[in-house]
Amino acid sequence: MRCLPLALAVSLPTPILSSVTWYQTSSSNGDKLSSKTPLEFDKLHSPTSSSHAVNIDPETTYQAILGFGGALTQSSATVYKQLNDELREELIQSYYSDSGLDFSIGRLPIHSCDFSTESYTFVSDEVDSDLSTFDDEVVYDQNLSLPLIKDALAVNPNLKFFGSPWSPPAWMKDNNNMLYGGKLLDEFKQSWASYFSRWIKAYGNQGVQIWGITVQNEPEASQTWESCIYTAEETRDFVADYLGPTLNSDHPSVKIFGFDHNKDHIKDWSDILLADDSKSKDYIDGIAFHWYSGACFDNVKASFEAYPDAMFLPSEATYELTVLDDDESTEEWLVNGTYAKGEGYGYDILGDLESGSVGWTDWNIVLDQDGGPNHVGNYCDAAVVADVKSEVMTLNYHPQYYYIGHFSKFLKEGAVRVKSTVNGEEEMSSDCVWPYGKCDEKTVHTTAFLGEEGGITVVVMNCGDDDKEMELTVEGVDGTLVNVVPAHSIQTYVF
Ligand SMILES: *[C@@H]1O[C@H](CO)[C@@H](O)[C@H](O)[C@H]1NC(C)=O
Ligand SMILES: *[C@@H]1O[C@H](CO)[C@@H](O)[C@H](O)[C@H]1NC(C)=O
Repeated sequence: MRCLPLALAVSLPTPILSSVTWYQTSSSNGDKLSSKTPLEFDKLHSPTSSSHAVNIDPETTYQAILGFGGALTQSSATVYKQLNDELREELIQSYYSDSGLDFSIGRLPIHSCDFSTESYTFVSDEVDSDLSTFDDEVVYDQNLSLPLIKDALAVNPNLKFFGSPWSPPAWMKDNNNMLYGGKLLDEFKQSWASYFSRWIKAYGNQGVQIWGITVQNEPEASQTWESCIYTAEETRDFVADYLGPTLNSDHPSVKIFGFDHNKDHIKDWSDILLADDSKSKDYIDGIAFHWYSGACFDNVKASFEAYPDAMFLPSEATYELTVLDDDESTEEWLVNGTYAKGEGYGYDILGDLESGSVGWTDWNIVLDQDGGPNHVGNYCDAAVVADVKSEVMTLNYHPQYYYIGHFSKFLKEGAVRVKSTVNGEEEMSSDCVWPYGKCDEKTVHTTAFLGEEGGITVVVMNCGDDDKEMELTVEGVDGTLVNVVPAHSIQTYVF
């Protein structure tokens, strides 16, 4: 082998930065995921102290992206059914095509939840431990959710769906009710594990491959709607003794996520489900979690650092009506939504990503003008709210829609997070005292990813009332990207 002359070996080319494509959503000028005039890195610019210095270090890498999406609930499917053909097509394109948000994951309730119009299951209401009455045709869903799910899949055939149950059938539980918490009875643990397997197979027969499941939605909460209580230890044992072996044998590729509840207890549950001496650890692929206990980014980060091989997946977030303000039910809310709620989504997505999450999942992809339908009166906002009551039906895009898009359109499966700092720090309000869905306005926030083709994507947010000057630099690369991040705006840069 011939050695290269020394002079050649040291004259490595300096990385060349392409021009920078960027997109912006801003409350002040009406930009909504708008494509802006490309920028260049300025080689001669020297940093100023009055600016917000964003620094990207592509050599320090963390987790890889799985994807972004929302839940295709029975309520969303009910609204979808009421829309005319044109609006149905518009909704599907807005979420699942690459001219829309390009969603790549979807959450599916396994039979009814609060965002259904009634309680139902796929078996008899009478005890049927061998599931002889199980409806393998899932007729209820063929009539309601499956048309929506199949239309989404037709636009993005690579969609990854994960199912979540809110409650086993009443007869499997100690309170003999799907509502108000209660516990799975020991004698029906295998029946319930087999129910998951039958549901996965039935959906597969409908052409909908199930990629993953969560064991139980919000296992710590007894609710007036479908709910069921498990402790972390009970979840570990149910997975190790029943659900894990059953799915491993019937559907070995299906991922199993534990917890699926608020970030305040994510580390405690991660320890019980994933620790080296946990008997469920070989079955559990990841931990799903919700946002309702506050920002809690510290807890997500501690969990990710302890179990870096597990997938940490935000699986639900929404605003109950009356959170942040009580302007819902007004015409202005219906048409334009509440700008701060977009910022709250952006802050949570960005903070979760900076803490090791693999993506983010919104709750109902669409609701009606009342924030429903909901069979227990638990009304919520959504990124898209349809007015199906007016003579002329409309789809209304709330700020949450555009804020999710700043991540979902640009961060694709396999993109790897790299280190990014603002003024030398990774500074966000990170504990559980900071309320959920509220953006911290004190500085700009940022997250950065390296795509599979070597491109860098950076998201920058400013939730403050003043425009902020930004100087963006990349370790090992000459030049500075100088731009203004306007008050109440979010930007995505691709270069
Ligand atoms: C189908 O759904 C509609 C409501 O969208 C309901 O009225 C009807 O009873 C359902 N039919 C079946 C067979 O479930
Ligand atoms: C929605 O926002 C636009 C732009 O700010 C405004 O012109 C319009 O009046 C608003 N619509 C309602 C119903 O408030």
